[in-house]
Amino acid sequence: MEFDITPWINLAIRWLHFITGIAWIGSSFYFVWLDNHLEEPKEKKKGMSGELWSVHGGGFYHKQKYAVAPEQMPDNLHWFKWEAYFTWMSGFALLAIIYYLGADLFLIDRAKMDLSQWQAIGISLAFLVGGWGFYDTLCRSPIGKNNRLTGIIWFFSLVAAAYALTNIFSDRAAFIHIGAIVGTAMAANVFMVIIPNQKKIVASLTAGEEPDPKLGQIGKQRSLHNNYMTLPVLLLMVSNHYPMTFSNPYNWLVIAGLGLVGVMVRHFFNMRHKGKTSPALVVASIVLFIAVMVFATEAEKRSRVDVGDAAVEFRQVQLIVSKHCVMCHTAAPSHEFFDEAPGGILLDRPELITQYAPSIFEQVVTSDIMPLANETGMTDEERALLGKWIEDGAKQ
Ligand code: HEC
Repeated sequence: MEFDITPWINLAIRWLHFITGIAWIGSSFYFVWLDNHLEEPKEKKKGMSGELWSVHGGGFYHKQKYAVAPEQMPDNLHWFKWEAYFTWMSGFALLAIIYYLGADLFLIDRAKMDLSQWQAIGISLAFLVGGWGFYDTLCRSPIGKNNRLTGIIWFFSLVAAAYALTNIFSDRAAFIHIGAIVGTAMAANVFMVIIPNQKKIVASLTAGEEPDPKLGQIGKQRSLHNNYMTLPVLLLMVSNHYPMTFSNPYNWLVIAGLGLVGVMVRHFFNMRHKGKTSPALVVASIVLFIAVMVFATEAEKRSRVDVGDAAVEFRQVQLIVSKHCVMCHTAAPSHEFFDEAPGGILLDRPELITQYAPSIFEQVVTSDIMPLANETGMTDEERALLGKWIEDGAKQ
């Protein structure tokens, strides 16, 4: 077998993306938790706005917050930014490797829009940059003073983007792009607003001037927005492995519903940290999750073609599979893109088709992930025939 370095590069970058993502989101949770638990300081020094005691790892910690800045610059100051920058960079690298280099197979869905590779990449970048431009303008506008209204407008803009993207790109690529828009806004919040403002505060402290409190407030607002975006963005990243979330004509509504569950769960925790536990919010999140589940299942079922009640013969199944699958799923694929069977899945023998029936159902019937990019133009009827055969017990 020839050595192929691409999957190793993919693995290394994905691993990095996980590690930095965990570090970033972990510190976001931690600092918002910290802020929400601060108490009135016992001995108040100038500029001190709160303090907190905690115990962890065999010792006690005593933290004090200075709402804008202490009177003097401390000798050693820790910043939190590289985890955000590396999460974005590794995420963008993954997007480029999978969806830009493999645009024909993973990004473009010719049944939706017949794009060239460069057009598709252009649209992708426009959404990432445009998303940040829109969100940042919103925050800087008078609306930005009202956090709740800003959040609602941003949420509905993302739903609109989801609707547009699911009509432009393949379903999975569309979902990843919504996640990438949110992730880009989060990283840009750190890079373009939070860190520059903190640098200005540090500069005025060093110059012996009083820092502008507005700089701190703006940073705090963006950091809170980021906190609410964490759970939806995680969901968008894992949704790619769950075809039932994106394999129906209303997938943009499904992801909107699940994203809202994420925001509600985050809100529950932020409230709880302030001492306000809201069981109603827990119940509402669970109910919404179940409602989305029922809706997605129903929407997928209704979108399937009816092929009648007559039993589907195995011969028909074999014909469909050899026409649409075997150019890739065989030991020596004829498809130019693959040197070996993708995912190690072979579909060139009857017993293998039966063996993989449940995965085939998931990949071909309830979703249209396979055949990749549907280059062979598999019809909805052929999918339904495979579905009927599998539902009837996948008999040879
Ligand atoms: C253009 C090449 C290509 C064609 C055509 C193709 N596949 Fe695939 N298939 C892939 C690739 C790439 C993967 C992903 C492997 C991975 O994720 O590691 C895959 C994965 C799969 C998987 C495993 C999915 C999982 O994540 O468990 C199944 C099942 C599958 N294909 C079935 C089919 C069926 C059935 C057809 C025909 C209707 C088909 N494929 C057509 C390239 C193709």
